[in-house]
Amino acid sequence: MSRALEIKKGVYWVGVVDWNMRSFHGHTFSTSRGSSYNAYLIVDEKTALVDTVYAPFTREMLDNIRRIIDPAKIDYIIANHVETDHSGALPELLKVCPKAKVFGTEKCKEGLYKNYYCGMDFQVVKTGDTLSLGKKTLTFIEAPMIHWPDSMFTYCREDELLLPNDAFGQHLAGSSLFNDQADSCELMDEAKKYYANILWPLGTVISRKIDELLKLNLPVSMIAPSHGIIWRKDPLQIVKAYIGWAKQETKPKVIVVYETMWGSTGKMARVISDTLIGRGLEVKLCDVNSCDRTDVFKDMLDAKGFLFGSSTHDNGMLPNLAGFLYLLKGFKAKGRLAGVFGSYGWAGGAVKEIEEFLKSAGIEAAVPSCSAKFVPDEQETAACVKFAGDFADKIK
Ligand code: FEO
Repeated sequence: MSRALEIKKGVYWVGVVDWNMRSFHGHTFSTSRGSSYNAYLIVDEKTALVDTVYAPFTREMLDNIRRIIDPAKIDYIIANHVETDHSGALPELLKVCPKAKVFGTEKCKEGLYKNYYCGMDFQVVKTGDTLSLGKKTLTFIEAPMIHWPDSMFTYCREDELLLPNDAFGQHLAGSSLFNDQADSCELMDEAKKYYANILWPLGTVISRKIDELLKLNLPVSMIAPSHGIIWRKDPLQIVKAYIGWAKQETKPKVIVVYETMWGSTGKMARVISDTLIGRGLEVKLCDVNSCDRTDVFKDMLDAKGFLFGSSTHDNGMLPNLAGFLYLLKGFKAKGRLAGVFGSYGWAGGAVKEIEEFLKSAGIEAAVPSCSAKFVPDEQETAACVKFAGDFADKIK
């Protein structure tokens, strides 16, 4: 069943909803609510398609376009981003409209060739370059590292429409396309998850780009990203949220993440969490083997404190916490305070290894670490309470 929806006069959503997508970027991002690949067809004296879809959905996108025009009549294809979830349909599309000219950044040109090895009439564009479609004019804005070097935004002044590709998106499949028709809590939750897991390390670049855009004073009445819901009602709300996330604004909230072998580190984690809660802090307790890692990173985005615990295995931490910390390091979290706890049997090692890892990630240890041998006794439990109390003092 094909579907096309007019989002502005002469501008149509011709994308595809991927209801069953459950992981993204390999398996680094769990997408429990599915996603969509949003492509936009702009029909004027000339016709432009902004972005395409992931290759397995090519036929569905072409059917959607056919509801509006014959795809062979597409004059221009705007490639805002080379990643295959948006360019995958391009080689097949070019067989249907071989004379269409493709527009994108220099890096996009290079990336498309290295992905598909097919020739195309490609015009490199830079910030401020325009493309007239007749009554409507598209303006291109380079957006390197939001989130790849090739990334670009497309803006249509006549429609006050910003097409920023991955920026401001969410992995959220739904029957409604606009934010005023969606569940606003679910939407912001997914937007935050998307930011934390994809854009967190790029805050400085994002802040700079948003400043640049705001200085241009472009009227924007709609922001239509390449994934998820379109921001139609108060579209700048997502820009304001990005400004806060990019500045790494935090609140007195602590995320306790642990992995336990026989329950002792888990017991310590509960004592520590209960103490923090008793001190009036917002807390989330996450066993890495039970919680969705993608959700935990979302919760960490605005948390001032991180606590990590592990049982000792082969003189080091357990492997799933190690994988979690490996990904966290890539986010380059700033301005956070951390603490480490853990248990051991005949020899320690987990606590030391986590401490070293945090140091290498540039995350400051706010309090001395806390350990227990086998099952925590009364004295070791009291040490956990003190550890958490001291940490609460630092966070508050
Ligand atoms: Fe960077 Fe949605 O791909």
